[in-house]
Amino acid sequence: MKPATTLDERVVVRNYLEAGDERALADDVLDGLTRPFKELPPKHLYDAIGADLFDRICEQPEYYPTRTERSILLDRAAEIVALTGASELVELGSGTAAKTRILLQAMGDAGTLRRYVPIDVTEGMVRDVARQLTEEHPELTVHGIVGDFERHLHHLPRPDGPRIIAFLGGTLGNFTPGSRRRFLRALAKLLRPQDHLLLGTDIVKDPAIIEAAYNDAAGVTAAFNRNVLRVVNRELDGDFDPEAFEHVAFFDREREWIEMRLRASRKLSVHVGALDLDLDFAPREEIRTEISAKFTPERLRSEFAAAGLELVELLTDPDGMFAVSLSRPQ
Ligand code: AVJ
Repeated sequence: MKPATTLDERVVVRNYLEAGDERALADDVLDGLTRPFKELPPKHLYDAIGADLFDRICEQPEYYPTRTERSILLDRAAEIVALTGASELVELGSGTAAKTRILLQAMGDAGTLRRYVPIDVTEGMVRDVARQLTEEHPELTVHGIVGDFERHLHHLPRPDGPRIIAFLGGTLGNFTPGSRRRFLRALAKLLRPQDHLLLGTDIVKDPAIIEAAYNDAAGVTAAFNRNVLRVVNRELDGDFDPEAFEHVAFFDREREWIEMRLRASRKLSVHVGALDLDLDFAPREEIRTEISAKFTPERLRSEFAAAGLELVELLTDPDGMFAVSLSRPQ
């Protein structure tokens, strides 16, 4: 672990990433692309280029989740703060903290704001956000954690008053059902009786609307999807031709999730130099690159119950497109 670094007295950033962590991509490629159904975990979609492409996805007219979640938070932040009395906000996957500002503002207005604890894998993002937010809020301290929220939650600082753990954007949907339950259980165990989980999840709706969100007309999602092949090429000396793969995204009505895939347009041979790995693709063979689960309110409630959480409040937009839920340990 690198030593704590102080930007000023109100900011501390700790980095828990280790040297061996770059192995993760190599291991995931070796494991995922040699399976009977090839797959790659979605986290590798987000290098600097992928993160920019994701920001552009959020601006596409078809991609409703980000702007809808934001509108819910704008409408209901004061209510969330009043219900929780929170003085501390922990955010899993904080990124540029665009939505966080809304919550911190509401906590500031209520006079309860004390600390923000962002967790993100990109140190630069955590530092920039810490600096900006402490400038905007003179009463705020920031304890930033550079790490992976699936592995480093035990490094959270001791709570400083009632805490909200926020997991926004619908990222929980990227977990498969089993790991989703495990992750929610781990969060439930972290929460004390006076703490809350604030979770953003997409809602099951007309499949045409969901599918359009992952097949935007401008092709930004397609570029985002193919970018994972560029990541493999660059990091692991691969020779994928990204343009030889077609972007595919469809709603699985049975499982109620979006699946994103890359489909080989013809028979292909690919070499990944760093792994000394030869891969063959049959025509139309696919790589699964992401699942993104959608929830009914009933399923949210039952999944919370299975994880030891009790739903306190389900906040949605007027059209019922997206949900922000507040829950607490049972
Ligand atoms: C950031 C994981 C919530 O699943 O909708 C957007 C990622 N993938 N378009 C989502 C994504 C394709 C997004 N999450």
